[in-house]
Amino acid sequence: MRAVVLRGEREVAVEDVPDPGVPGPDGLLLRVERSAICGSDLHLYHGGMLGVPGVRLGHEFIGTVEDVGGEVTSVGRGDRVLVSGVIGCGRCPPCRSGDPVTCLAGMPTAFGTTLDLAGGQAEAVAVPAADASVLRIPEAITDEQAVLLTDILPTGFLGAQRADIRPGATVVVIGLGPVGVFALQCAQLYGPARILAVDLVPDRLARAEALGAEPIDAGAGGTVAAVLEATGGRGADAVIEAVGADQSISDAIFCAAPGATVSVIGVSLNLALPVPMPLLLLKRLTLRATYASIPSTWPALLPLVASGRLHPEDVFTHRLGLSEAAEAYRVFDAREDGVLKVLLDPSR
Ligand SMILES: NC(=O)c1ccc[n+]([C@@H]2O[C@H](COP(=O)([O-])OP(=O)(O)OC[C@H]3O[C@@H](n4cnc5c(N)ncnc54)[C@H](O)[C@@H]3O)[C@@H](O)[C@H]2O)c1
Ligand SMILES: [Zn+2]
Ligand SMILES: [Zn+2]
Repeated sequence: MRAVVLRGEREVAVEDVPDPGVPGPDGLLLRVERSAICGSDLHLYHGGMLGVPGVRLGHEFIGTVEDVGGEVTSVGRGDRVLVSGVIGCGRCPPCRSGDPVTCLAGMPTAFGTTLDLAGGQAEAVAVPAADASVLRIPEAITDEQAVLLTDILPTGFLGAQRADIRPGATVVVIGLGPVGVFALQCAQLYGPARILAVDLVPDRLARAEALGAEPIDAGAGGTVAAVLEATGGRGADAVIEAVGADQSISDAIFCAAPGATVSVIGVSLNLALPVPMPLLLLKRLTLRATYASIPSTWPALLPLVASGRLHPEDVFTHRLGLSEAAEAYRVFDAREDGVLKVLLDPSR
């Protein structure tokens, strides 16, 4: 079968690889129907400590169950399912309650990030721990919506939920990639008076403005000065960081008003991140960082999407065949052509 393989820095290729099988009695084999590229894939694409050549990429995918192990009870052959992009052992109490991130058996693993768990930008994928990590897609949810429930809509939702947004609050969202866009839309569920939306890319700022936010160009004179000016020097009651860079995490803390919560969902791998501790102390801030426990969000998000209250599929700007993956990664990385989110079709 064909799969997207990381070859080196800024280099991916569609390669012929051996067909996967059912990965043990608790797993299943999925025929992939749609798969998306994520900002997290770019951390691997850019090399560094995460980018191991040979990794088969992709943690956002849906498809039809082709075969199941004997212990799987929640789904069967022919079911259309979505899969949590991050899985744990599937057996411990946290895993069974939808929280694979705190799996007691060890580190949670994202599909397509290590040589041990092949990803879903492929024609088929082996899914371990199926009962804890897959969900039969309800009739009311489209394929494109289902793909977004595998990682980034849950991430944006948790970013907003953990920002302690109260009705009437002023919120800042830093980073307006698809994760930031979803954080913005989920922040609106909590009734803030204002959302200030920060990015460097003009079409991403325009998109946030169309969603009802006040755009702030991070390049213009600095995020912090612009947020303080817009809030009479006070800062924001809640700040959601959806970039993961040193600068943007620091900016998020500097943008916070006394007593505010800073909710980081951007992925940082910096073990020596400089944190402006005096601000945390003197402004009595709450700082939270969240690696999303995806299945835990489905009970809230499925009705919000099915009812049309959230319409996540709007983030897809590019729909390409799996065979075009190299070009898809290049355009997504370069933020060319108004790209926000890319969907891959493994049948093409
Ligand atoms: N916590 C989780 O569980 C989880 C899950 C999925 C993705 N993520 C992370 O969320 C982040 C965003 O993902 P995405 O898919 O939206 O990525 P993306 O690369 O499409 O978007 C990032 C955005 O940040 C903007 N940006 C860069 N530097 C900035 C700065 N200094 N100030 C303001 N904006 C800046 C970019 O212009 C871009 O629009 C990534 O770090 C990704 O790894 C986290
Ligand atoms: Zn993702
Ligand atoms: Zn576990």
